[in-house]
Amino acid sequence: MTLPSAASAPTLEASIGPSKLPRVGTTIFTVMSQAALDHQAINLGQGFPDWDCDPRLKELVAEAMGAGHNQYPPMAGVPALRRQIAAKQERLYGRRYDADTEVTVTAGATQAIMTAIFAIVRPGDDVIVLEPAYDSYVPSILLAGGRPVFVALQPGARIDWARIRAALTPRTRLMLVNFPHNPSGMTLQPDDIAALEGIVDGHDLLLMSDEVYEHIVFDRAPYLSLARSPKLARRAMVISSFGKTFHVTGWKVGYCCAPAELTREFRKVHQFMVFTVNTPVQHALARYLEDPTPYLELGAFYQAKRDLFVSGLERTRFKPLPCSGTYFVLADYSAISDLPEAEFSMKMVREHGVASIPVSAFYDQPFEQQLIRFCFAKGDATLETGLERLARV
Ligand SMILES: Cc1ncc(COP(=O)(O)O)c(C=O)c1O
Repeated sequence: MTLPSAASAPTLEASIGPSKLPRVGTTIFTVMSQAALDHQAINLGQGFPDWDCDPRLKELVAEAMGAGHNQYPPMAGVPALRRQIAAKQERLYGRRYDADTEVTVTAGATQAIMTAIFAIVRPGDDVIVLEPAYDSYVPSILLAGGRPVFVALQPGARIDWARIRAALTPRTRLMLVNFPHNPSGMTLQPDDIAALEGIVDGHDLLLMSDEVYEHIVFDRAPYLSLARSPKLARRAMVISSFGKTFHVTGWKVGYCCAPAELTREFRKVHQFMVFTVNTPVQHALARYLEDPTPYLELGAFYQAKRDLFVSGLERTRFKPLPCSGTYFVLADYSAISDLPEAEFSMKMVREHGVASIPVSAFYDQPFEQQLIRFCFAKGDATLETGLERLARV
């Protein structure tokens, strides 16, 4: 076979062809973080803590490496870690997942989300996405050939289940839920669980529940994992991440708990998407999970930060929306400016030295509500400085 000469060879762009994700570009998170660096701003934009994890957790990783846990672990995850995850789910949510057949360790929640969607969604399937939505959902659905069907949540208000029911079609195959919710800080209430149970009673659909903020719930409310409801858990892939729980977002280890039939399909994709996940970190997490204190105390830890930040916002012209979970709070700036959200956020970094995220970034189509998202997973001194600057806006 002869190769075409350089002159007649198609350009690289022609060979690549139309993008599979034409609307994906540099994300607002990257843009705002760069702007924060450029303007030496306080970065209340990106969602990760600005402190280090528990030194014991790092020691446990070093110990695992020292003990020679450095080769491929089993495809589904280190058994001791799967057992700890199953024990935690049972202790907290009363659902017994079989560690061998119903728990899979993943490379963070993001991989679990894409794997779950790839395992279930076929070309032409509808997938319900509640907006504002975490940014990996829609690209994963599109790459699987599915069609995202958007239903708007109203940040700060109760979930409008009638709207969700109205969006269901015979093609609806999967519904994505994420509570505590990024970016709004909303959590589910018992009647939300009942409404969701009503939906699965009447429709043949599956659920993917992104529960990465499961341990960051405030005001002593119990966390209503979908795993608590036998009706929902039967049809749900419940996903979480140690990144959020143990302040190690860079480690990218998470998991998916689902009934054995669903897990079987999930693992078929997982096997070829990543095959396995970092061995020493899995061993370390298994040992760290033996003591539930760190995750049981997480809600109170972040609640103190929420209270500091939200009460501080009272000295500003920003109006915080209610926040019952996560480490994010939305703020209404309509008393300050009429600018669209992205422009307002950029102006805040440049002129006031505080980075935030425009909520419009979490919507598929342009949608303006004069809301920005602040992340309060920052040291108290950083939050105080941020608040002083916000008070001058
Ligand atoms: C709602 C939500 N899901 C998933 C993730 C990603 O988790 P991981 O870093 O474990 O992939 C995040 C991270 O910000 C998130 O906010």
